[in-house]
Amino acid sequence: MSDIILGIESSCDDTSAAVIRDGWLLSNVIASQDVHKAYGGVVPELASRAHELNIVPVVSEALSRAGVKAQELSAIAFTRGPGLLGSLLVGTSFAKALGLALDVPAVMVNHLQGHLLADFVRQEGKEPCEPSFPYLCLLVSGGNSQIVRVDSPLEYTILGQTIDDAVGEAFDKCSKMMGLGYPGGPVIDRLAKQGDPLRFKFAKPHIPGLDYSFSGIKTSLLYFVRDEMAKDPEFMEKNKEDICASFQKTLIDILMDKLIKAAKQTGIRDITIGGGVSANSGLRERLVAEGHKRGWRTFLPEFKFTTDNAAMIAIAGYYRYLAGERAPLDVAPVSRLSDF
Ligand code: KG4
Repeated sequence: MSDIILGIESSCDDTSAAVIRDGWLLSNVIASQDVHKAYGGVVPELASRAHELNIVPVVSEALSRAGVKAQELSAIAFTRGPGLLGSLLVGTSFAKALGLALDVPAVMVNHLQGHLLADFVRQEGKEPCEPSFPYLCLLVSGGNSQIVRVDSPLEYTILGQTIDDAVGEAFDKCSKMMGLGYPGGPVIDRLAKQGDPLRFKFAKPHIPGLDYSFSGIKTSLLYFVRDEMAKDPEFMEKNKEDICASFQKTLIDILMDKLIKAAKQTGIRDITIGGGVSANSGLRERLVAEGHKRGWRTFLPEFKFTTDNAAMIAIAGYYRYLAGERAPLDVAPVSRLSDF
């Protein structure tokens, strides 16, 4: 008999539901929230309210596109955290209530683990392209910047992580500072394609081990733009492509230096990336180029699986379901990874 899992993701500003059957994707619906654009960042209270409005239609649409009735579900996997507490509460409560009503188990998933396993979502008509265990994942998003060693669908170890801002935050905050809009990553990525990455130099941090830091480069860019604008108020407008290209190159250099170090230290050659920033075209090109040079097998998730989505939650939940994990009815969401 097939195992049919409904995945629910509501950790930040995307309400998503997906259905998978025995690891194969049947549907993946994502409702993004435009309401935050006006504020230049996610407003937690508005995110929770939007999840409340979206959750029922998004789940109904996912079931209908999958051609699956709620009564056919084997389990409901949901993101327990980390993320925004109010947002997580909507998905967690909905998943537990639906599980109770249908008399099927709810399975809790760590959002991070969803990103780590995104390559395992199988799709009809596409050859599975999955890394072998153990592999390294560079997890880069608005909330994470980590190098993770993945030993099995259930086990992982964080080898290095940011000690301050996430790399996505650096993209977003610097874009806001330069007046380029939100979210910053896609805008900077687009402008960077037309600019010279070697024109300007930004200071790189010196952090021991495999940890990252992205707060310094923000300050470096702030002072640079401020000083240049004092000399020429048109500086930003005239040079935005080169600034974006040079800034993006610095971020990619920082990410790749530690990833190369981690691959050398562990001897692992299967490398994946995940999280919203893994959509960055410069980072993707660089990962593939380093892979060729160093004999790595690199795995780039499709764009739709890079940002927050329920397909990755469903697949991570599927493995946990097979391992016999069940969420107790009184389980509460957690905002921080350390509370998991
Ligand atoms: O995983 P994600 O959707 O959710 C959060 O963790 O919040 O990641 C969102 C982040 C944002 O910081 C956004 O600017 C960044 O991913 N991002 C990008 C690109 N597309 C999205 N960063 C760089 N280049 C991109 N093309």
